[in-house]
Amino acid sequence: MKASAPFSTSQPLSCRTHGGRPSSMSMSAGARTATSVGTSSKRPWFGDLLGRLSSTMDGASRALKDAPQRFLDALVDATFRFTDQALNSAESNFAPVDETGEAIEIHQSQIQGAIPDGFPEGVYIRNGSNPLFGALHSTSSVLGQSREIWVEGEGMLHAVYFTKSSAGHLWSVSYASRYVQSETLELETARHKPCFLPAVEGDSAAIVAAYVFNYLRFGKVSKDISNTNVFEHSGRVFAVAENSLPYEICVGSLDTRDAWDVGGEWDRPFTAHPKVAPGSGELVIFGTDAKKPFLVVGVVSADGTKLKHRADLKLDRCTLCHDIGVTPKHNVIMDIPLTMDVGRIVKGGQLIQFEKESYARIGVMPRYGDADSAVWFDVEPFCMFHLVNCFEEGDEPRTSPYPLR
Ligand SMILES: [Fe+2]
Repeated sequence: MKASAPFSTSQPLSCRTHGGRPSSMSMSAGARTATSVGTSSKRPWFGDLLGRLSSTMDGASRALKDAPQRFLDALVDATFRFTDQALNSAESNFAPVDETGEAIEIHQSQIQGAIPDGFPEGVYIRNGSNPLFGALHSTSSVLGQSREIWVEGEGMLHAVYFTKSSAGHLWSVSYASRYVQSETLELETARHKPCFLPAVEGDSAAIVAAYVFNYLRFGKVSKDISNTNVFEHSGRVFAVAENSLPYEICVGSLDTRDAWDVGGEWDRPFTAHPKVAPGSGELVIFGTDAKKPFLVVGVVSADGTKLKHRADLKLDRCTLCHDIGVTPKHNVIMDIPLTMDVGRIVKGGQLIQFEKESYARIGVMPRYGDADSAVWFDVEPFCMFHLVNCFEEGDEPRTSPYPLR
């Protein structure tokens, strides 16, 4: 895989750089010891004692700091039992697969059909749920059961690379797959087991406990699943799911870089379907959260360096708005009665529910508008995830929503 070659080559250089530092430091330490011996025969012993004492104190301090964490880990391990969910036979095509790591060359004989003339070189990348440790998980405890729902598998990227020979008439096609190395995936991988308690579906007490324990142990209530989409903005490529920030990925190697918080200016969930605004090239984003503010819309500059605009639409519920429509001057927002409500769990209900007796609205707001400038149109209650065909006639924005009933 040509695109990954520069990365592989840079590794040994990096190792040599780091390898030089300890050698230089140990020489300094040796020089200090020699000087001490020459000054007083008691100082090495005293220095050694101080060093040991300091090291012991550091260890004790770390142990004290880690004690609550270890207690919580032990409590969760003793209270909750993780089990693998069975794979339905109808889901066999969607069963988890292993990473390939390095790209695998696809032989011409394995390619059905022909690559059309004029087909451009490049890469096609798909993102999808691929549960870590081979299955979605459930937990059971004295508090009841909770289980991961089908969208909660960790994101795996599948890339097909199309490159032409230097002569320009022979195709080389290769395939690679890798997990999005999110912060939470690295955490669970390091522990060799699922750690986040399922917190979406199940018995109320178990869900509440999952929220509390996940937050106390890891600082977040759910995993960064990063499994819904791949998008490009200003030459950078990101993997994303709507429950966390996007992670930047390297197209050539599928390595995961840092989470993207738009220069520290976006501190909440990030839609899986950001849209490039026609004309300006700005990226229109939004984030839906179970706590206030429920829905915030943002505009990222075309060069991806800054958040140019941010508006809390001041909704009074957490609508599971999954997509946004954009026209040259406006955003189209869906306020549907598929809602997420933590308070409902406490009352024995479900976190996510379609409230068919409730209301639905479609909102239109200027690109740089706010809650006051959004215009809402009441419509029959419906559930819809994606918007298509948003456009303007003159200054009039229009859209063609396709609802699921
Ligand atoms: Fe979607």
